[in-house]
Amino acid sequence: MIAPAPSSEKNEVVTKVVKDLRLEDKTALLSGRDFWSTAEVNGVPSMVLTDGPHGVRRQAGEADNLGIHGSLPATCFPPGTALGSSWDQELAEEVGQALGREARHLGVNVLLGPAVNIKRSPLCGRNFEYFSEDPLISGVLGAAWVRGVQSQGVGTSVKHFAANNQETDRMRISSDVDERTLREIYFPAFERVVQESKPTAVMCSYNRINGTYASENTWLLTDVLRKEWGFTGAVLSDWGAVSNRVAALKAGLDLEMPGSDGTTTAEIISAVKDGSLDTSFVDASAIRVAALQQLTAFEGGDTSAFDVDAHHALARRAAGGSIVLLRNENGTLPLQPGTRVAVLGEFAEKPRYQGGGSSHINPTRIDIPLEELRKNLGEDHVHYAPGYGVTGTEASSLLLEEATDLARRADVSIVFVGLDEKEESEGFDRTNLDLPADHVALIEAVAAVSNRTVVVLSNGGVVTLEPWHDDVDAILEGWALGQAGGGALADVLTGRTNPSGRLAETIPFRLNDTASFINFPGEAGHVRYGEGALVGYRYHETVDVPARYPFGHGLSYTTFTYSDLSVDVPGTDHATVHLTVTNAGDRAGADVVQIYVAAPKGPVRKPLRELRAFQKVTLEPGESRTLAFELDRRAFAHYDITDSRWAVTPGEYSIELGRSSHDIAARSAISLEGDAGRTAPLSLTSTVEEWFTHPVAGPLLIEGMTASMTEEQREAAEAMQDGLKMVYSMPMDQFAKFPGVTIPQEALEQLIHATREAPVG
Ligand code: BGC
Repeated sequence: MIAPAPSSEKNEVVTKVVKDLRLEDKTALLSGRDFWSTAEVNGVPSMVLTDGPHGVRRQAGEADNLGIHGSLPATCFPPGTALGSSWDQELAEEVGQALGREARHLGVNVLLGPAVNIKRSPLCGRNFEYFSEDPLISGVLGAAWVRGVQSQGVGTSVKHFAANNQETDRMRISSDVDERTLREIYFPAFERVVQESKPTAVMCSYNRINGTYASENTWLLTDVLRKEWGFTGAVLSDWGAVSNRVAALKAGLDLEMPGSDGTTTAEIISAVKDGSLDTSFVDASAIRVAALQQLTAFEGGDTSAFDVDAHHALARRAAGGSIVLLRNENGTLPLQPGTRVAVLGEFAEKPRYQGGGSSHINPTRIDIPLEELRKNLGEDHVHYAPGYGVTGTEASSLLLEEATDLARRADVSIVFVGLDEKEESEGFDRTNLDLPADHVALIEAVAAVSNRTVVVLSNGGVVTLEPWHDDVDAILEGWALGQAGGGALADVLTGRTNPSGRLAETIPFRLNDTASFINFPGEAGHVRYGEGALVGYRYHETVDVPARYPFGHGLSYTTFTYSDLSVDVPGTDHATVHLTVTNAGDRAGADVVQIYVAAPKGPVRKPLRELRAFQKVTLEPGESRTLAFELDRRAFAHYDITDSRWAVTPGEYSIELGRSSHDIAARSAISLEGDAGRTAPLSLTSTVEEWFTHPVAGPLLIEGMTASMTEEQREAAEAMQDGLKMVYSMPMDQFAKFPGVTIPQEALEQLIHATREAPVG
């Protein structure tokens, strides 16, 4: 188990070892020795870092960061898009533990994950690696994953920090995001992972943030990450993300990966020699890299072979918990024993189960959905036709005819469709949400003749379900499920597994309905996050744009009811929610209880509601469970950029128990005192309104202004009170100079001082 942070004793040893090194040796620690490992220098051994996140991509031969060359066999667990839909932190931790065991066995010290970037647009090419459009899910699952991996003595490197939400121009683009949005949407998953699970490392992203490369961003890597969040581990670069090594070192980037054959090492040494770089930067980073090596060294530890079968079984269970049953008219699913089934679509035989790029795993085995269905339902009950060619886009009439012939004769047709792996990868984004035309043609042709039609989707990012949605009876969102997805799909189709996944991202009707539509993927080197905090469901709910399936949606073969929702407010800015959930159906199943908070009107525009707590619970038929959720101050707060702090608006909040972000089953109103009475600090440029309504400065200002007035002048001033509204928005330093007003600047400065002496709230 990796200690949360290097113990001071160990740290002293590392510090001493590093301090005694020659400058050349210290500097050698700051760049990779090669593609996947760090340099071995006097007293500090080398370590291996490798991808991640849903499997171990250990390359024994040629190395690359795009999954082009082969890697050793390892379990391909469900990628982030699937695991995110499980909403199951215990499962994420178990998967993490298994990944840790495999990493150890394959000689990997640091596994490059989890990937907790937010799905800002459904088009992002790497959405299949990411968990959600919501920071709470991403953070909770990411933290659980880190706990799991690190419990095996293997390090983790949470990535890609930060605002890396597209692949287009990813190595240069500037993500132009306001600070409140960064703090509320793009940072919290990283913040939670760092603070809850103490990952050994953080990987900075390729892109710029508001003009500055993440790798050179002192505010990001030092002020926020280390000083505010207390991160004590090492910061490493994404592969090739460093453009100016010396600037990056100063900003807080410890380890550049991969190595650059000594070029950047020489740059650092010459900067130290010419006095433009203080050696303290070299020392601090070298100590962190050496500490990372020491924390993740498992000499003498157990590196025995992992249990391939047990890990495959876990991958199947994890995939089963991630599948989302979107639609199930007239109880079409699960399939009843004896049902004659037509299995259609080549994905049933050649499944799509992961994405392209650096996360590409060489699986230990692959479950084939068709075979698994045959095992479950019996050979003679399952008939198959490919329906389309995986690579083709034109519907072939022969293939369609063969498929519809089978569909006509079956009780139920199951159509396997989705996106090919080539279409979803690191390095580029999608341009639309469409399924291939020949897949759509197959669904439509089958639905027209079949008794019952079930569609099974395999895709990394969401696809549109139009125009065929209403013509089919059931839809399973099967994501990219990893190597055991075929078995897991058969389990859900036949009812051996009761589906319990919930959408961790909205399925829109159209691309045009998505929040980032007009600002994705940017132009001229900039992508403007114009939707601010209104990402995903936050946008759909606030702007009232209907979605085909909302965030949080997912059906089960049983039904869950809720009762006894109550909320206690023990203080001014936090609450405890209690409720009882009951499995009211006749089979065991798992529900995801979702708690949203809707805030009152305040100084900033807040999303209509935001997910603030959730828990997955498994219940036997008839079983009830009472749950408690703690909502802390942050659950109610927004980030106040004028004051650089989290602020809680006083007023009435609605605590909402949702079956999804759109379907609220019960709500309870609470009143929070929040930050009542707290006013933003005054400055010379605060507005006239802020000055006059300030509880300390306001009365003093009025007193000062009216002191020398005659009774008549005072009456006239009072009569003009309403007129004052017209100048409410003027900065005080301008107003104070206006003819007829003239408030001396010293007087204002004294008042500012007075408000600091007697702060309010
Ligand atoms: C990816 C990272 C990955 C690294 C190493 C980069 O292209 O963005 O996620 O960890 O390569 O393969």
